[in-house]
Amino acid sequence: MSDNQPNLPNAKKVFIKTYGCQMNVYDSDRMTDALAPHGYTPTSEMGEADLVLLNTCHIREKAAEKVYSELGRIRDFRNEREPGAKKMLIGVAGCVAQAEGEEIMARAPAVDLVFGPQSYHRLPELLTKAQTGRVIDTDFPEEDKFAHLPAPKKEVTISRGLTAFLTVQEGCDKFCSFCVVPYTRGAEVSRPVAQVLAEARGLADAGVREITLLGQNVNAYHGLDGNGVSVSLGALCYMLAEIEGIERIRYTTSHPRDMDDELIAAHRDLPELMPYLHLPVQSGSDTILKAMNRRHTAAEYYEIIDRIRAARPDMALSGDFIVGFPGETDADFAATVEMVQKIGYASAFSFKYSTRPGTPGAQMDNQIEEHVKAERLEILQAEITRQSQAFNAGCVGVTMPVLIEKPGRNSGQVAGRSPYLQAVHISADKSLIGQILPVEIIGQAKNSLEGRIVTANGLAV
Ligand code: 5AD
Ligand code: SF4
Repeated sequence: MSDNQPNLPNAKKVFIKTYGCQMNVYDSDRMTDALAPHGYTPTSEMGEADLVLLNTCHIREKAAEKVYSELGRIRDFRNEREPGAKKMLIGVAGCVAQAEGEEIMARAPAVDLVFGPQSYHRLPELLTKAQTGRVIDTDFPEEDKFAHLPAPKKEVTISRGLTAFLTVQEGCDKFCSFCVVPYTRGAEVSRPVAQVLAEARGLADAGVREITLLGQNVNAYHGLDGNGVSVSLGALCYMLAEIEGIERIRYTTSHPRDMDDELIAAHRDLPELMPYLHLPVQSGSDTILKAMNRRHTAAEYYEIIDRIRAARPDMALSGDFIVGFPGETDADFAATVEMVQKIGYASAFSFKYSTRPGTPGAQMDNQIEEHVKAERLEILQAEITRQSQAFNAGCVGVTMPVLIEKPGRNSGQVAGRSPYLQAVHISADKSLIGQILPVEIIGQAKNSLEGRIVTANGLAV
């Protein structure tokens, strides 16, 4: 990265540690881009940084505590530096910053600046202020953050490889009763269509072959086109598929309520739209779904899955589940396990419910005991593992297009991704990186598949 600006007189280094979801990974890249014109280049060595940023996540349990202990470590590191060493600024961004900004300022005096996800485009300005005093910026301004963020730099994008994230939507209006996102990321906002297409074209020009559209509620996307008409995610996918060079499109994370006909049709019509869908349902019990404010029933979820599979029979499904939500009985939990068995997930994430201050779930008085949550999690995870191994086993013997992404762990090997997001290891030459090739799956390991390339005459190499 430093190749781009090797000898700037004011060259400075930024070290960003990113926690949590892909949205944060994307945001960290945008922070890097926003800082680049101000002489900052990224470093992976905290020791040489002029600026250390923690881009935090609030979804996981004890997220805030982890941030405080990391801040303590960074403060000690800064204090131990040689006297006269350059000043290192410390900043906290992301959802913990948004949720607990004032508390971070009070509890961690070493922190120079705290700013939420709506303020990233103001980062250079905040840094200037932080030179003379501590800064906190966690407002939700009316202005459009997307409009101010610089487009990704071509040369930076190349170093990000063949796959890239592209944020199309941010925030959430759903208010599931366990979730902090509507409070930390604010109301739902969609990027205008032209902006998304321009960024996608830039990525394609820089060599990106696969884009993953990001949003907390990505399938609620309703960006405006040039005529001020609202465009759905499905319609957006048709436009993106037209861009030369974009050969694969994915999106995450979706809500079952927003799985509309246009999006399902896009899955039917567009070979570019990958047959892998992360569609969290959280629970298989109607009582719990209602208490979670998910606004759909288990039967409606099954019906949505049926429609998706009718449009794209090979669709691989993924999901998120929470066990031990307040009031969850053995029968409620059994409905969740039954759902996992009936649907057959290619992969899924499962979590013990944990309270988030300020969410309705935290006020509920029928909280579940920790040991019950732990037992249920173990049962559910065992079922999910069985499902995903069965899914992988079903791929053995199948030939599928694999995007060859990078050199493998061993020499003479390359690693790629199947349409179903599985890692595939192949004995082949590095020169094939960047291509999408037919690969026959010949074996299955714990978290990956083994494959061999099938050549034009049908023979495997
Ligand atoms: N407790 C447990 N899991 C949670 N998630 C979100 N909030 C909580 C919480 N309070 C999980 C959900 C969501 C995923 C990103 O994290 O399953 O889909
Ligand atoms: Fe959180 Fe997703 Fe529910 Fe929004 S839809 S509140 S982001 S779990």
